[in-house]
Amino acid sequence: MPLTLQLPAGTHWWCSCSKSCHQPLCDGSHTGTGKGPVKFVLTEAKTVLCDCKRTATPPYCDGSHGRAAVKPI
Ligand code: FES
Repeated sequence: MPLTLQLPAGTHWWCSCSKSCHQPLCDGSHTGTGKGPVKFVLTEAKTVLCDCKRTATPPYCDGSHGRAAVKPI
């Protein structure tokens, strides 16, 4: 499910690796994963952020969490 956070306006970093203890924001735990945070700038305090890491529009939710996962053949 997406997260609705009260974050102040300004620059933030969204976690793309799922290892952060402060989801959905980066805490530096991505070191060695080959992934990195996605920078985003908020212009308003309330924003819906992706928490499933499947969004095509990081860091914002695009509804991918509600779609069936495709199993590899
Ligand atoms: S902790 Fe996940 S991208 Fe930084």
